[in-house]
Amino acid sequence: MNIAVLGTGNVGATIGSKLIEVGHSVMMGSRTADNEKAKAFAAKFNGEASIGTFSDAASFGEIIFNCTSGVGSLEALKLADEKNLIGKIIIDLANPLDFSKGMPPSLSICNTNSLGEEIQMAFPKAKVVKALNTMWCGIMVNPGMINGGNHTTFVSGNDVEAKEEVKKILTSFGWDEKNILDLGDITKARGTEMYLPLWLSIYGATNTGAFNIKIVS
Ligand SMILES: NC(=O)c1ccc[n+]([C@@H]2O[C@H](COP(=O)([O-])OP(=O)(O)OC[C@H]3O[C@@H](n4cnc5c(N)ncnc54)[C@H](OP(=O)(O)O)[C@@H]3O)[C@@H](O)[C@H]2O)c1
Repeated sequence: MNIAVLGTGNVGATIGSKLIEVGHSVMMGSRTADNEKAKAFAAKFNGEASIGTFSDAASFGEIIFNCTSGVGSLEALKLADEKNLIGKIIIDLANPLDFSKGMPPSLSICNTNSLGEEIQMAFPKAKVVKALNTMWCGIMVNPGMINGGNHTTFVSGNDVEAKEEVKKILTSFGWDEKNILDLGDITKARGTEMYLPLWLSIYGATNTGAFNIKIVS
């Protein structure tokens, strides 16, 4: 499948590399067509990765990963151009972290709203699925790194079929179906985004990003 990865940071490169490993073609998108990090990413792969603007990538992708900075995501998706998003799944793994006042960051959207919802509202013809935003990107694509892969990842979104498609991608990344928890509609992105302050505290207290939530009952 042709997949767009919007974002040239660690997350975009990590997700893009895994997508190529499991057999997809990837275009990495950026604000500029010749982003240095995107070039470095594409150089690692022989023809399976290409680069372009956010709009080029969104036009290329049948599915779109939003791996942009949370405070820039709406702008990035506007640049991707609404017409390139119609009917497509946007897998949103961004967190609305605002670093403008230093560390720790605050949430630029929270409580009764979320970035996932803002994206769904701004692009009503796209199918937004919030996923993978509750963990370090190394774990997203390699769940077996901790606890034998037995821990929890969440999906939320309004379109049931879109969530099933996303679950297929997650299982191709190594997630066991029993560990993929569908929380409900896109409003459930609020909780997964508001987990970030706790994630950051755990990271600070343990000095490792290689941890995750496991739901037990
Ligand atoms: N690091 C992790 O393990 C982790 C885990 C879970 C979730 N996340 C989330 O994943 C996302 C990506 O994180 P990251 O560290 O890889 O990258 P990042 O530095 O947060 O974001 C980089 C991307 O955002 C774009 N961008 C930044 N400001 C923008 C603006 N004003 N308008 C349009 N685009 C803008 C950049 O565009 P250019 O390419 O043009 O510079 C670049 O592609 C974030 O939302 C983060 O919260 C990260």
